[in-house]
Amino acid sequence: MRTITEKGLVFDEKITPEQIASYVQAVADRINADYAGREPLCVVVLTGAFMYAADLFRRLQMHTDVTYIRLKSYEGLNSTGRVECVVPLQKPVLGRDVIVIEDIVDSGATIHEFKRMLAEEGARSVAVTSFLYKPTKLLFEDARPDYPALEIGDEFVVGYGLDYQGYLRNLDAVYTLRK
Ligand code: IMP
Ligand code: MG
Repeated sequence: MRTITEKGLVFDEKITPEQIASYVQAVADRINADYAGREPLCVVVLTGAFMYAADLFRRLQMHTDVTYIRLKSYEGLNSTGRVECVVPLQKPVLGRDVIVIEDIVDSGATIHEFKRMLAEEGARSVAVTSFLYKPTKLLFEDARPDYPALEIGDEFVVGYGLDYQGYLRNLDAVYTLRK
């Protein structure tokens, strides 16, 4: 098992690159089946989801386009509960079937707020795929992902796009903070 140390914290490898690839393919299979013949607009929630989005998007087989938004709710190891829009939506969602691509759903505050924005802007439908999902931490029922790639426990993870204070996003696997 691989281990990484950053700023005095130790992280252990939890999900290997091979496992990631098979979880991503499983989500793509479900979305391809559910959206066959439709033209969804994928919206990537930056920054953390960019790696998952790149892997998932290239496996989608319908006509589709991708855009992004940047929302922020985490500082360090904890969710602040406030959701800020740092970079606004880059394409109109009016009348579109939107697929939100997120890195991780924790309290669900980010997705709860973003779904409210998308409804306000007239999206026809909204589905959420999240690479990781922490069911025991969910506080907003409407933020439960429709297509979670993988459920994890109450733990802090990094790698595959996910950061600790702006570091470790570039790891090719998911690592979990040693307790
Ligand atoms: P939520 O709004 O509480 O659901 O938090 C969602 C956001 O917090 C995610 O999009 C991540 O950017 C960040 N986040 C939540 N849990 C973790 C984690 O374990 N590691 C790194 N970032 C996390
Ligand atoms: Mg995020």
